[in-house]
Amino acid sequence: MTLRIIGWGTGAVGREVLRTVLDPRTGMELAGLRVYSSDKDGVDAGTLVGVAPVGVAATTDVEAILAIPADCVVYTPRLTDVDEVCAILASGKNVVTTAFLFHPERAAPADREKLLAACRVGGSTLHGCGLNPGNLSGALPLALTGMSRTVDKLTLQERADWSVYDSTAITFDNMRFGAPLDEISVTANDFLAFNSAIFVEQVWLLADALHAGIDEVTADVEAVAAERDHEIFDHLLRAGTTAGQRWNWVGRRDGAPLVEIETLWTVGNEYPAHWPKPRHGWTLTIEGDPSMQAHFVSLASFTRDATMAEHVDSANVATGMQVLNAVPAVCAAAPGFATIADLPPVRSLIGFGNA
Ligand SMILES: NC(=O)c1ccc[n+]([C@@H]2O[C@H](COP(=O)([O-])OP(=O)(O)OC[C@H]3O[C@@H](n4cnc5c(N)ncnc54)[C@H](OP(=O)(O)O)[C@@H]3O)[C@@H](O)[C@H]2O)c1
Repeated sequence: MTLRIIGWGTGAVGREVLRTVLDPRTGMELAGLRVYSSDKDGVDAGTLVGVAPVGVAATTDVEAILAIPADCVVYTPRLTDVDEVCAILASGKNVVTTAFLFHPERAAPADREKLLAACRVGGSTLHGCGLNPGNLSGALPLALTGMSRTVDKLTLQERADWSVYDSTAITFDNMRFGAPLDEISVTANDFLAFNSAIFVEQVWLLADALHAGIDEVTADVEAVAAERDHEIFDHLLRAGTTAGQRWNWVGRRDGAPLVEIETLWTVGNEYPAHWPKPRHGWTLTIEGDPSMQAHFVSLASFTRDATMAEHVDSANVATGMQVLNAVPAVCAAAPGFATIADLPPVRSLIGFGNA
């Protein structure tokens, strides 16, 4: 059966999703496309990803898109809206998202109840995932614990220098690199608070799935100043302003840290001497019986030459594919929430693509 998909957002991740939905080997067809930008309104979906027109026009009209029959919406906007997701779910469409709701059972109770009610009305299922939060802080650690007798502590470290990331609206405006150090905190602005909350949810997801019985998840951030000026695309990051952010989200039981996600983020590639020094990318360490460590990095290719932009975009491909590949399982799941801990293993729909 062909699955009818609605794309919701055509940013860096949404475009990768769209491009893949248009590949018939996925067993999917594009039913509709929601955009936010007025200059994309009415533009053919194929044109938006640089292929021939496919006969589906992008629209900014939410009512119109909600009326389109479809199996699943792939929801990838920059700014999220719980009520909007509820409207999609209540209209009978499943939702997969890279943006939030990675473990809705641990979301604010009012949101959780609203979402569950919408799932009941629409007979629909909600799944949030991606790269991190997502596979690396969900599927991968859970898969590795398939080899564990017991787990004592699970830590995921993400080390990344964002200087190559050309979306400076995200690094400077949202994440506040280049801002005074005292503007970096868990509650400093809506974006930092939102971003922190989704990692808190992810710690709960692992803890709940592995019977950690934690009683709290704490969030902390340390901001570190640049030692000299840096030119980052169209921005000047001045010496003395924020060039490093070390975030720690820690799930504890009786004060003992059991599950931790740590991000070691820099812009300008000055690496604070006192920070831990895992390799660039993601390092997953499971202390237990046995103790295990895995390092992950995504690139456009390990064999052919690729531009930095292509390498950076590989993370967008990974993020989008993680939810798109989950669509058949989400459509088959019982109505309600389906986290990565609930779904069967998600694998590439196209894979080698030869069959
Ligand atoms: N879980 C993970 O591992 C992971 C990794 C990367 C990103 N993400 C999340 O995935 C989502 C997409 O990321 P991205 O890199 O594709 O972002 P992006 O490139 O910044 O995409 C921007 C998207 O936001 C839409 N937009 C514009 N104005 C908006 C508004 N007022 N309200 C809501 N949306 C608006 C854009 O609309 P148009 O379609 O009209 O351009 C576009 O679809 C984000 O929520 C991001 O945080 C998650």
